[in-house]
Parts: sequence; structure tokens; C-alpha cells
Amino acid sequence: MYLILLGAPGSGKGTQAKVLAQRFRWLHLSTGDMLREAVATGTELGKKAKGFMDSGALVPDELMIGMLVERIGRPDAAAGFVLDGFPRTLGQAKALDEALAAASKSIDLALNIVVPDQELIRRLSGRWICSSCGAIYHEIYNRPKITGRCDLCQGELYQRDDDKPETVRNRLEQQRPPKEMMDHYRASGLLMDIDGLQDVAKVTADLIEAIDAKRGVAR
Ligand code: AP5
Repeated sequence: MYLILLGAPGSGKGTQAKVLAQRFRWLHLSTGDMLREAVATGTELGKKAKGFMDSGALVPDELMIGMLVERIGRPDAAAGFVLDGFPRTLGQAKALDEALAAASKSIDLALNIVVPDQELIRRLSGRWICSSCGAIYHEIYNRPKITGRCDLCQGELYQRDDDKPETVRNRLEQQRPPKEMMDHYRASGLLMDIDGLQDVAKVTADLIEAIDAKRGVAR
């Protein structure tokens, strides 16, 4: 299955994509993680993307589309993937459709995690991430057992640079899923809203229910 998770910054796409990828044995592709890796390793793409990311803006489509299309063309993506953070524009959505169509494939479902703004700000400003395995924590909602250490691998936890209050405000202003992209998925009958204000386990349950319904799995 080829699944897209949509939603504003902080809506829980990364948290949920990790769970779904593990449960269904799909590849988890986070464009945010791919870009942060490119910045950390100093690639050309990373150098070009850094300024946009630091200011809370979207990285231009011409940089994003090539990176993502190349990645989903690799063999490990063939059995299924969950996209976290892509597409974010109508141009990216159309490019994704075209790349999949060229391989006689298509997106199966686009699940939109809906969370009000005040809660998004709370979530982003309290987020901590494991520098070793990428596990996501929150200082109130999902605390690690030992402050600053990952429960899973004991790695050190850090806060993302773009989770600073001013950048968070820019991200929320500039990076909500745009209406024309949502209309694209709604018109194809692929879009479903999921209430993201519930606790993590309940959001996961609702996502799995939608996925199972699409796959025709009886519950
Ligand atoms: P990216 O890393 O994708 O950032 P984002 O979309 O802003 O999403 P986040 O990772 O901030 O949030 P999330 O929805 O994954 O939430 P999470 O699960 O972590 O992108 C970074 C940058 O790269 C962008 O700003 C842009 O510049 C660039 N970029 C990336 N893709 C791009 C593209 N396609 N085009 C152009 N530019 C692109 O959860 C957040 C917090 O909430 C955590 O602390 C978590 O523990 C907590 N939480 C999660 N769910 C719940 C819940 N149900 N209840 C309570 N707490 C919860």
C-alpha cells in the first residue's frame, strides 16, 4: 500500500508514521529527516535547503521532487511506503502521481491528521528527539523515563532548531497543507480526516481502521 500522512507541522505525522511502518512493514519516508541528514552531511541539497528550513519556509519544489522521486524508485519502496511530510504542494502531489503512474502504481490513501493551532504550538515547543534512533518524545505528553535519554536506545535527546517559538510561528503560517492540494486528493476520493487531538494510541487506532477499510480487511 502507498500511504500519505498529511497535516500541519506538529500534528503527529512522524509519531504515527513510525508506528504504521513497523506494523505494516512499510518503508517510512520522512522528507524532513532526509533533509536534516543532507544538511548534517553537507551535501549540495543540504546546503541549498538549510536557509529555507531555518526560517520555517518550505524548500522549493525543484529540490524536493527530485529527491523524493529518486527515493521511491528504489527497490525497498516497492512493497509499500508511508510518506511523512511529502507532498506539501499541489506541484509535489502531481509529480508524485506521475512518478508512480510511470511504474503503474498510485497512491492508495491520504490521511490528514487534524489538530488545532494552539495544540500544535504546545506540541512543537515541547518536542524532544533521540539523536541516535529518532524516537519522538514530548516533555508533557510523552516523557522519557530518564530526562534527556531515549527509552529505546539510551541515546541523547535534543530539540530541533526549527522548534524555536519564532520559527514555529512561521512554519504554522507557511506550511499548512494548501487547499488546492487537499482538493486534489479529495477529488480523487483518497482523502480522509483523522482527529489528531486524541491521545497517540487512539489516533493510531483511527489510522489503522481507515487503512484496514481501504485494504478490505474485516474487523
Ligand atoms: P518536517 O520534519 O517534515 O517537519 P513538519 O512537517 O513541520 O513536521 P514535524 O516533524 O514538525 O511534526 P510531525 O507532524 O511529524 O509531528 P511529531 O510526530 O513530531 O520538515 C522540516 C522542514 O523541512 C520543513 O519546515 C521544511 O522546511 C522542510 N520540508 C520537509 N518536507 C518538505 C516538503 N515536502 N516540501 C518542502 N519543504 C519540506 O509530533 C510533534 C510533537 O507532538 C512530539 O513531541 C510528539 O511526541 C507529540 N505528539 C504527537 N502526537 C501526539 C498526540 N496525539 N498527543 C499528544 N502529543 C502528541
